[in-house]
Amino acid sequence: MSREFDVKDLSLAEGGRRRIEWADQEMPVLRQIRERFRSGQPLKGSRIAACLHVTTETANLMRTLHDGGAEVVLCASNPLSTQDDAAASLVTHYEIPVFAMKGEDSETYYKHIRAALRHRPQFTMDDGADLVSVLHKERRDQLDEVVAGTEETTTGVIRLRAMAAEGMLGYPVIAVNDAMTKHLFDNRYGTGQSTVDGIVRATNILLAGKTFVVAGYGWCGRGLANRARGLGANVIVTEVDPLAALEAVMDGFRVMPMIEAAPLADLFCTVTGDVNVLDRHHFELMKDGAILANSGHFNVEINIRLLEELAVEKRKVREFVEQYRMRDGRRLNLLGEGRLVNLAAAEGHPASVMDMSFANQALSLEWVLKNSDRLENKVYTIPEEVDREIARLKLEAMGIEIDVLTEEQKKYLTSWEEGTT
Ligand SMILES: NC(=O)c1ccc[n+]([C@@H]2O[C@H](COP(=O)([O-])OP(=O)(O)OC[C@H]3O[C@@H](n4cnc5c(N)ncnc54)[C@H](O)[C@@H]3O)[C@@H](O)[C@H]2O)c1
Repeated sequence: MSREFDVKDLSLAEGGRRRIEWADQEMPVLRQIRERFRSGQPLKGSRIAACLHVTTETANLMRTLHDGGAEVVLCASNPLSTQDDAAASLVTHYEIPVFAMKGEDSETYYKHIRAALRHRPQFTMDDGADLVSVLHKERRDQLDEVVAGTEETTTGVIRLRAMAAEGMLGYPVIAVNDAMTKHLFDNRYGTGQSTVDGIVRATNILLAGKTFVVAGYGWCGRGLANRARGLGANVIVTEVDPLAALEAVMDGFRVMPMIEAAPLADLFCTVTGDVNVLDRHHFELMKDGAILANSGHFNVEINIRLLEELAVEKRKVREFVEQYRMRDGRRLNLLGEGRLVNLAAAEGHPASVMDMSFANQALSLEWVLKNSDRLENKVYTIPEEVDREIARLKLEAMGIEIDVLTEEQKKYLTSWEEGTT
């Protein structure tokens, strides 16, 4: 494998290794998989290109694939989420080529994706489907070499399903996001906690007593709204789906259209996967000093281009906080350039949840390797037995035991004959 790479500073490697090892302590399920992979070499000789947030947790996934016998190359799935020390350590200590730098511009971001594709992957691992998208648009000659892929997040799965529906998807992809042991925990508890962490690190505001608007009450929104409430914020939820909105109401949140919430809020955070959720008519109504953040996958949920046009002045008031002054003097504060705030201004999800998400990635890859002959060019959900096995291993690692069905209960639960007595 080529030793080509592009990271910010290799002298950061030692600190990166310490943080990678620290994260590993909270990743017992992935560790068990790594040990099994190391002895069984299930990925031997396979070439994998991964486009993921370059964090310490991702580093532990890359180590797992590498120890399983794969040739791995890693590029970033977001220009602002790279941890430069983790990238340096992967190159220096683990022989994994990385193409990623925190703060890289859009041109460099895509240059890095193309560099990863030059390794001619047989498997792709994506978070947001940018790697798959560039491969399908620019490197169609390589499509035949790709056996399968995996996708980490909701937005990526939506893009891939759209490709499959149009008959455009060139190979099968496993929707890791659809595993229960992924979205129930990563999206809800991971995004919930780390988004609050990102907002607090960027601003150091007290959440207690603030009016906090959460746009979107899906898996991520549920987690965020509940964590913000736990810190004393007065949370308003906005939604477009009646079921999700009803759930938010019954969970005790105020629910209203964004246009009504706009003048009330101190803080807005979008987590919808949608575009222009905060737009001109909302900006016009916001209070002086309002804080705007996004934790959805792409930086399109807040109409930043329009904000730039409307503002008479823009200045950086803190690391990760750009202040836009409107014509009428109001100041709107945008966090982390509208990119996922938990990764831009904090460290992303805690290792403990990434343990399960990345166990799903590793086991999905092993599963597609065994089953690739019978897969079509579609988006597949992870088999239920893999999901349950990950939950079982996680509980075991936490030292938690659960009850086991008795023979009598098994019979009862599979019988239609037994009713009331
Ligand atoms: N920050 C992170 O680390 C992280 C982690 C996981 C997922 N994500 C991303 O977060 C986004 C949401 O993921 P999810 O798993 O919660 O998705 P989801 O599909 O479970 O929920 C999205 C919700 O947003 C609602 N919505 C859509 N348009 C809206 C609008 N205009 N106004 C208000 N609500 C609207 C939908 O009705 C839905 O209920 C995706 O982009 C996903 O990729 C980010």
